[in-house]
Amino acid sequence: MILVTGGAGFIGSNFVLDWLARTDEAVLNLDKLTYAGNLENLASLQGDARHVFVQGDIGDSTLLDSLLTQHRPRAVLNFAAESHVDRSIHGPEDFIQTNVVGTMRLLQSVRAYWQSLDEKQRTAFRFLHVSTDEVYGSLSPTAPAFTENNKLEPNSPYSASKAASDHLVRAWLHTYGLPVLTTNCSNNYGPLHFPEKLIPLIIVNALAGKPLPVYGDGLQIRDWLYVKDHCSAIRRVLEAGRVGEIYNVGGWNEKPNIDIVNTVCTLLDELRPRGDGASYKTQISYVQDRPGHDRRYAIDASKIERELGWRPAETFESGIRKTVQWYLENQAWVTHVQSGAYRDWVQTNYARRS
Ligand code: NAD
Ligand code: DAU
Repeated sequence: MILVTGGAGFIGSNFVLDWLARTDEAVLNLDKLTYAGNLENLASLQGDARHVFVQGDIGDSTLLDSLLTQHRPRAVLNFAAESHVDRSIHGPEDFIQTNVVGTMRLLQSVRAYWQSLDEKQRTAFRFLHVSTDEVYGSLSPTAPAFTENNKLEPNSPYSASKAASDHLVRAWLHTYGLPVLTTNCSNNYGPLHFPEKLIPLIIVNALAGKPLPVYGDGLQIRDWLYVKDHCSAIRRVLEAGRVGEIYNVGGWNEKPNIDIVNTVCTLLDELRPRGDGASYKTQISYVQDRPGHDRRYAIDASKIERELGWRPAETFESGIRKTVQWYLENQAWVTHVQSGAYRDWVQTNYARRS
């Protein structure tokens, strides 16, 4: 089996669902179930013996040691993290605890387990660390896209904590020989995306008749990848990636935020027109910018394409249409994730911006 951490979050749950749709190799899913973890994402796996869920922290070494010894995975994929930049600005502590300390503890337990394996199993074993393009910092408008050789220049508490975790993973290869792989991916979007992030927030607010908050001038650029394409890249890197290598993952889809918001509004105008006939674009509201807001991210995905033959299956146009349709068809999921904790966050983040 494989061990997936953070498998109840947005990307982790998409990964687990896709994995088990393709293979019978079981998944041990370790997730702390923070506000971002949602077992409802995995409801379709209820009663499926191939999915073993354990609620727990990647920083809990005792738990990790016993899970590894008991289940003996052939690979560990680390998705678990605090992932929202704005939350990291309000409270960096959890980011350091999970993304840095947690990753270090996970690496330590995995190393001990890996050393206990016989030579054949040790050679085949992989630790795959799921990271982000944000570790590379911000690009000027004309700079070339991030390659794997870019310096790490993180600018937010979130990206600094992810950069630290990337360094730890590298160190565990160089110092201890742990066979690691790292992926640095651009912005994901798709089903099961928690509505604190731009695209699901815009869909949910639009349908609720609320303002669509655009930070600053809305001209910041992100590079968007449909989540299922990120999952296929991770599967491919796990299967054929060279030990110790970093693979940038992206869909060559650079877009200014305001274009994303306009695209979502146009799709909603088509698929679920407002009762008064006006466009959802009339709900757009420019608000105070994010402190230290990175201006532009862009991923050069040539290496994973060239070495591993990976290509995204979705264009931005096909992926964003599927995404909007998914939210329209899954309003109950949205209602359930809008818990008290979610409402408190919306108040904290947006009250002072308006
Ligand atoms: P998410 O916030 O939706 O999910 C994170 C999951 O990790 C949640 O289920 C949460 O309960 C769990 N978790 C948090 N702390 C934990 C801990 N201490 N122990 C165990 N589980 C814990 O995040 P996501 O968007 O799915 O991102 C997954 C990974 O991919 C992260 O490492 C993130 O940095 C990276 N990433 C995300 C994106 C993106 O656009 N969302 C892009 C590139 C990389
Ligand atoms: O680049 C990969 C990263 O993408 C991941 O590592 C992070 O985990 C993930 O959260 C995401 O980070 P971003 O900060 O880019 O995503 P977010 O959806 O928060 O914001 C996308 C852009 O939209 C960003 O420029 C900020 C802007 N924004 C965001 C929100 C929530 C707004 O204009 N208004 C908003 O209300």
